[in-house]
Amino acid sequence: MSTSAKTRIVGSSVPRKEGVDKLMGRARYVDDIERDGMWHGATVRSSIPRGIIRSIEFDPRIDWGEFAVVTAADVPGENHIQLIFADQPCLADGQVNHCEEAIALLAHPNKQKLREAVAAVRIDYEPLPAVFTIEESERQDVIVWGEDNIFKSFLLEKGNVDQAWTGAAHVIEGEYRTGAQEHLYIENNGMIAEYNSAHGVTVWGSLQCPYYVHKSLMAVFGLPEEKVRVIQTETGGAFGGKEDFPSVLGSHAALLAMKAGRPVKMIYDRMEDLAATPKRHPSRIRHRTAVDANGMLLAMDIEVATDGGAYSTLSSTVLSRATLHSPGPYVCPNVRVRSRAWATNTVPYGAFRGFGAPQAIFAIERHMDEIAAGIGMDPIELRRRNFLQDGTTTATEQVMREHVIMDKLLDRALTESNYYARKTQFAQENPASAIKRGIGIAAFFHGSGFTGSGERNLNSLAGVDVTSEGKVRVLVSSTEFGQGTNTILTQIASEAIGLDIGDVVMALPDTGIVPNSGPTVASRTSMVVGKLIQRAGTQLVSMLHDKAGLEESFTRAEFFAACERYRAKLGDVVSLCRYEPPPNIFWDDQKYRGEAYPAYAWSIHVAQVAVDTITYSTEVEDFWAVQEVGRVLNPVLAGGQIEGGVAQGIGYALYEKVVWQNGRMANNQMTNYIMPTAEDVPPIHVLFEEIPFMHGGFGAKGIGELPHDGPAPAILNAIKDATGVSFCSIPLMPEDILAKLVVASSIEVAATV
Ligand code: MOS
Repeated sequence: MSTSAKTRIVGSSVPRKEGVDKLMGRARYVDDIERDGMWHGATVRSSIPRGIIRSIEFDPRIDWGEFAVVTAADVPGENHIQLIFADQPCLADGQVNHCEEAIALLAHPNKQKLREAVAAVRIDYEPLPAVFTIEESERQDVIVWGEDNIFKSFLLEKGNVDQAWTGAAHVIEGEYRTGAQEHLYIENNGMIAEYNSAHGVTVWGSLQCPYYVHKSLMAVFGLPEEKVRVIQTETGGAFGGKEDFPSVLGSHAALLAMKAGRPVKMIYDRMEDLAATPKRHPSRIRHRTAVDANGMLLAMDIEVATDGGAYSTLSSTVLSRATLHSPGPYVCPNVRVRSRAWATNTVPYGAFRGFGAPQAIFAIERHMDEIAAGIGMDPIELRRRNFLQDGTTTATEQVMREHVIMDKLLDRALTESNYYARKTQFAQENPASAIKRGIGIAAFFHGSGFTGSGERNLNSLAGVDVTSEGKVRVLVSSTEFGQGTNTILTQIASEAIGLDIGDVVMALPDTGIVPNSGPTVASRTSMVVGKLIQRAGTQLVSMLHDKAGLEESFTRAEFFAACERYRAKLGDVVSLCRYEPPPNIFWDDQKYRGEAYPAYAWSIHVAQVAVDTITYSTEVEDFWAVQEVGRVLNPVLAGGQIEGGVAQGIGYALYEKVVWQNGRMANNQMTNYIMPTAEDVPPIHVLFEEIPFMHGGFGAKGIGELPHDGPAPAILNAIKDATGVSFCSIPLMPEDILAKLVVASSIEVAATV
């Protein structure tokens, strides 16, 4: 079926598949689940950022015989979490490298006694010097990881940057910083595990990637794949925060279950979740840009540094995405990006919606406004002149083969927001007023799916089968965590087969049942897995046509009758499809050249702000998000993705500040780590343009991460419009605005004297 063909179900806002169960309280989250004889588990954590563990002492006033106790010595297989490099221990063995690192695990039937027991384990340390910032890590006075504190570095080069400076009309430099950000999923991390020697390990939990946890458990227990089973329970939000960490918590729960000889449940409370689980990588990005007299980009020299925390986890792939998004959606003949992920002694940073792109887009989109100011050009015009267009190439020399419509998105955003009229109006507002209004934009793209050869290496398998109860079942390891996977994939399956949505169900995301359709990350599910389900659906119909006499057009009853004939003759009715890369995809992982992503989603954000020069607080008053994400499969869910991403982006820009004390999050409570509430989120005007992508599920590209990229730079650009002052660091708190506005006005005062 072609992507532009008329569809019945795809493109309509069918309600969430699991929505009623969630509303009625029937959805079962991990903490709702009880198992016979189940105990609770808890973690003994490091209180120092780095040091040698001299001893672990158990207070004799506790009857330890009542408890299951696990330390590194109890790990039957490899004491490592399997992500990209196996450097992160499952339990600290001899040394700790960050505060809150897990050292020992305890299980007991009584939660209160468990808490007392955790407090009764004393760790004796020999402290070692630690580093807490990118700068301290770069200085390399203290080496805390490998030989040089560097987890990963990339060099991306196009043309010849060094030759471009002398002939340039302008050279503009800037440095941009972003802070850590917490996911704040509604449901904290939690797992239940069972162990027995015959069946091995079974884990239930709140997670994004069943097969990631599966891989880690195999290594930690030294078990073959059929002896490890991972089942996702209803998951209350993830945002990347349940991509890497569940491999740690799943291993912990399973070790305790083995030691206790009974099921063990581990549920983090909010303070533990905030203090001990990953956040978004802080970054420092430097730009040096050569521009000609007409505002055309001549050269971009970019240096990306991220703070990776104490272990490498996913820092290399986050850095890769930051590197590839750092030049923004622009054409430039000469580009060099040098990037490094640095080790520090904090909880390892991990996946978070956008995966390095929000950091990179913040830098380039703030920098574009700085360039515009530096050369005296309208920031809109500067962007328009430099946008990627059909047939142009990105920094990795990827040719834009899909139609690029940044001009059209920009026009629509300017019209819908009435940008120029507002800008003029704000410039004329009473200068004596304490409220300064401004408007700003960000233009950006987001690569959909895994980077480079990533999708090829994942080699995803997905499909559909037909149950004996007469339902089509979608077989994927892709998980629902609030974003709409269940709904989108059942829409695709029912559309491709020609059934109603009620005839299609999702298989339980259980590694014992579903094939590995890859992790639920990287804005890949609708596009990549959706396409596999579309193909599998079409293939199922032709199977039934060829082998079971299903006619060209059929009723529901005829379809399921054909399934029964097929089953009687040939066995299970299953249709599986494996990923096939789109043609002409080439990627050189050494040179970082080629098709970095199979497709890009494109967007313009416009933010209107009001800065109060008495309280120095900023309100985002209005917001427009215009995007092209391929075919919109479900307008309500797609709109929800954009609204949620913008809200999270507003928090990233203005509210969410992790306060560090000796490498530990000091404000690990929702009363002092402040996120935006409904009061802080403006009307968000969401507008789509659709260019179906033929290699995505019914034309879809990625949407989930895109909307987190734009709000921060659009808001800070609007604050500059409002105040005349450039801010280059987020989160931008009232005290930061105060500090700079006071300096700016005292300079003005000094100049008039
Ligand atoms: Mo995502 S941040 O790719 O889980």
